[in-house]
Amino acid sequence: MSQHFSHDVLVIGSGAAGLTLALNLPKSLRIAVISKGELANGSTYWAQGGVAAVLDDTDTVESHVADTLAAGGGLCRDEAVRFTVEHSREAIEWLIAQGVPFTRDEQPDRESGSFEFHLTREGGHSHRRIIHAADATGAAIFNTLLLQARQHPNIELLEQRVAVDLITERKLGRAGDRCLGAYVLDRNTGEVDTFQARFVVLATGGAAKVYLYTSNPDGACGDGIAMAWRAGCRVGNLEFNQFHPTCLYHPLAKSFLITEAIRGEGGLLKLPNGERFMHRFDPREELAPRDIVARAIDHEMKRLGIDCVYLDISHKPAEFIRSHFPTVHERCLDFGIDITREPIPVVPAAHYTCGGVVVDKAGQTDVPGLYAIGETSFTGLHGANRMASNSLLECIVYGRSAAQDIVQKFASTDLPSDLPSWDASQVTDSDEDVIIAHNWDELRRFMWDYVGIVRTSKRLMRAKHRVRLLLSEIDEFYSNYRVSRDLIELRNLATVAELMIRSAMQRKESRGLHYTLDYPRQLPVAFDTILVPSTAGD
Ligand code: FAD
Ligand code: SIN
Repeated sequence: MSQHFSHDVLVIGSGAAGLTLALNLPKSLRIAVISKGELANGSTYWAQGGVAAVLDDTDTVESHVADTLAAGGGLCRDEAVRFTVEHSREAIEWLIAQGVPFTRDEQPDRESGSFEFHLTREGGHSHRRIIHAADATGAAIFNTLLLQARQHPNIELLEQRVAVDLITERKLGRAGDRCLGAYVLDRNTGEVDTFQARFVVLATGGAAKVYLYTSNPDGACGDGIAMAWRAGCRVGNLEFNQFHPTCLYHPLAKSFLITEAIRGEGGLLKLPNGERFMHRFDPREELAPRDIVARAIDHEMKRLGIDCVYLDISHKPAEFIRSHFPTVHERCLDFGIDITREPIPVVPAAHYTCGGVVVDKAGQTDVPGLYAIGETSFTGLHGANRMASNSLLECIVYGRSAAQDIVQKFASTDLPSDLPSWDASQVTDSDEDVIIAHNWDELRRFMWDYVGIVRTSKRLMRAKHRVRLLLSEIDEFYSNYRVSRDLIELRNLATVAELMIRSAMQRKESRGLHYTLDYPRQLPVAFDTILVPSTAGD
């Protein structure tokens, strides 16, 4: 039997964004935080490098803003960048107050000022401004916030609950456009339950799983972007998919990330013969923004026909490497690579979805009562290329601002009622799960081949034909069979892939992460690619 639940706030996603929002709401509110797998399953848990923020006496808001704008290829929204950076210090202070064990600075004579925590560097940053917990910052943040959330009796933490779709007044044929809740598959019972809430928050992370090779965990399927799109929200800049330059290349390593902080601390990129190459692509060499480094590696791999390049930090003292990068050190040892003595084989992999659901400074989407925060959102902070470690910052800053907005609107927002149950009367159990597995694989493969680091109009056209075919097959499957996590994710991945392809086809230039051989130049004027649901099509 399916069930009905009622909360003040339904938060879909238990990563940095969702937990921050929940913890910043008053304790009098009844909050549900749901995760489609275990609570730790999002990208947050895997974040390595750290959080960018203006913390040091010698750093300035202007400098962080300028670096972010430069990395963003002329497409960041100035006010979003300024808003985020201006709130960066208080975001970090809040994390410290929650108890996040950031690494302390053991070198008080460091040239960069008086801040008591160690700050590292990453690509695009002109200053040491990345606060971190060794090379496992995400786990430190997640574990701390989860511990706090568990101490709040008003926050219900629910695992194995997959949001299938949002419930809106428009979908129910009622007057208005408000979001009223969501249908949620309980993987324990197999039933789709109805969650009604005054406010619904999408904190569902990114969509990098749309690509064959990715640094992201399995759940990064763009569910929030697809659900918001179906609910009537605009989406923006989905052609900007960030490829992290350095993921471990090993047949048994499932795209394990090698943090950019290794390059920040002096790691060098080399060809198999030991030759360095980044100076041929950018004067900032290894510390150029990610789009440039990933493209340079891709270029060298294709030019030389090699399977990977190498990242070498072995010239640094072994103790420094072990203490700063314990996670990377241990993981590489598992594969027989001792990074204190030898270079690490690396390749680029899909890492971050720069575009997403269009929101304002409070994370409010186009649909009243519906918020989107964290990687699933498009705030305008990242432009055409996200600067390293600005993502976790965005999760915290917008998690807090969305919570404030909800508090302000709370008194004037009723609890919805009389929501219909999920209708499963017309569907049966699938006996063809092989179709889901096959379509999933096909989608991720052609996205990698046709919508990857280097694009062409012809490849994009091919991808468009393929994805539309898949979408019609998936729609048919969805209408006839009982929903499962795999089917829900495949449907969302295909929807988001189609939006990415359409966005890429609309951009007749190369800018930031979108590089196409047919339009290699950057246009003089920068514009966002905004897709509007009511004008679906080309
Ligand atoms: P996530 O942490 O991805 O959480 C998503 C949540 O939504 C999960 O709980 C998931 O179960 C849930 N969910 C999704 N769909 C549904 C659904 N349909 N129903 C119910 N629940 C759902 N950024 C930095 O700034 N610094 C770094 O050092 C850094 N390192 C990174 C390293 C790696 C390996 C990766 C993958 C990313 C890294 N990033 C880093 C990026 C950053 O970690 C992410 O952008 C950020 O953590 C996203 O947080 P989030 O809260 O938006 O989503
Ligand atoms: C990394 O540690 O290299 C990831 C940083 C990021 O994605 O911001």
